Amino acid sequence: MLTLLNLRDEENLVEQVTVCGNIKFRYLIEFERDVFSLGSKKLTEYCEGRDVLVVVSSTVYDILGCVIEECFSKRSASVATRIVSITDSENDKNIEHVLGLCKVAKTVGIDRKGIFIAVGGGVLMDMVGLAASIYRRKVDYIRVPTTLLGQVDAAVGIKTAVNFDGHKNLIGSFHPPMAVFNDVKLLASLPVYQSRCGLAEIVKMAISLDRGLFNKIEPRMDSIIKPKLDNDWNFLEEVIAESTISMVEQIESNFYEADLARYVDFGHTFSPVIEEDSQYQIGHGHAVAMDMALSTQLSFDKGWLAQEDRDRIIKVLMRIGLEVRFDLLDEVDRLWYAIEKIMEHRGALNLVVPVEIGKSTFIRDLKTIDRIDLVNSVNGLRKFYEN
Ligand SMILES: NC(=O)c1ccc[n+]([C@@H]2O[C@H](COP(=O)([O-])OP(=O)(O)OC[C@H]3O[C@@H](n4cnc5c(N)ncnc54)[C@H](O)[C@@H]3O)[C@@H](O)[C@H]2O)c1
Ligand SMILES: [Zn+2]
Repeated sequence: MLTLLNLRDEENLVEQVTVCGNIKFRYLIEFERDVFSLGSKKLTEYCEGRDVLVVVSSTVYDILGCVIEECFSKRSASVATRIVSITDSENDKNIEHVLGLCKVAKTVGIDRKGIFIAVGGGVLMDMVGLAASIYRRKVDYIRVPTTLLGQVDAAVGIKTAVNFDGHKNLIGSFHPPMAVFNDVKLLASLPVYQSRCGLAEIVKMAISLDRGLFNKIEPRMDSIIKPKLDNDWNFLEEVIAESTISMVEQIESNFYEADLARYVDFGHTFSPVIEEDSQYQIGHGHAVAMDMALSTQLSFDKGWLAQEDRDRIIKVLMRIGLEVRFDLLDEVDRLWYAIEKIMEHRGALNLVVPVEIGKSTFIRDLKTIDRIDLVNSVNGLRKFYEN
């Protein structure tokens, strides 16, 4: 028998044991219209022979509950299928609700081979994803985003999170979904404010990384916000797909965010504090739009962005239709606090600013930006809005 003594003797000294993991994953983002209709089998095929917990936003359930129930009603009696609806405001995005979902899964009898399906916006998908990453140590989950922001952003990567102790997304995990189903028609019932918030994230990709996308959406913003004709829906689907591809290109070499200098964080430095300070009355995409306007002005004031591009960018941001002028921009203390907080999170500033349409750079630390710069840019923006 190998005893500790043997291990420790001179000849057989064990100093370290190497453990190698091999985490690889692959998932499809499917563009599938009428995903819950009985004619579309793709979603239920993923669930064959497995217990399923479908978690639906209560708002979406009020609109589509019958269709969703019908979709799963034909499943075999030998597997558990449970559909639950939950409230999904930003204030609901907490660990208690995630544990509540785990409790439901246990009560229903979801085993380790079970699947969670998240049907809702970013808030709901973040909660269900986190629950899936801890329930029985990990179960598969599928995302069916029902908001524009969900389709172009929250559903694309592998992050999950809830807010904790006054901090947005403080507790979370990296858990790749098994699949994502982007059904553009699910957006038909979306309040226009939410469409505008989603468009803000598309505009983010366009300004910071994708000039082609910017040129494409600039003349047709209204088709994205309020699609009416078939042509508009096709255009919207195309834009979602292009924005998603740009996003995937950015994150695929950095899923676990070992590198916290990310171009996709354009608009995400001041925005968390803007959201928190508004008690989440200002939506995520809305806060991102405000942040992008300020970051753009900062770049212009530094002499890195031509006036023509600054003007085009701010005009596009204004045409999203979200109020980008707001009192908080006058509160430089809070904006500076946002900078300090993000440095704590990222370990550096890495503030993304555009240098031309479709191209951006980082302000990496406080050697390049100070409070005076912030005050100047806030004033510069105000002047722009007034003219
Ligand atoms: N995990 C990630 O990588 C990631 C990325 C971006 C954002 N997020 C998170 O996503 C959240 C924002 O998500 P969101 O913008 O999708 O908003 P949301 O989830 O808050 O949804 C907005 C509102 O729309 C309602 N709704 C959803 N779908 C609807 C539909 N089809 N018809 C009518 N109403 C509908 C919801 O009930 C909610 O009231 C934030 O918490 C943010 O932190 C996560
Ligand atoms: Zn975002």
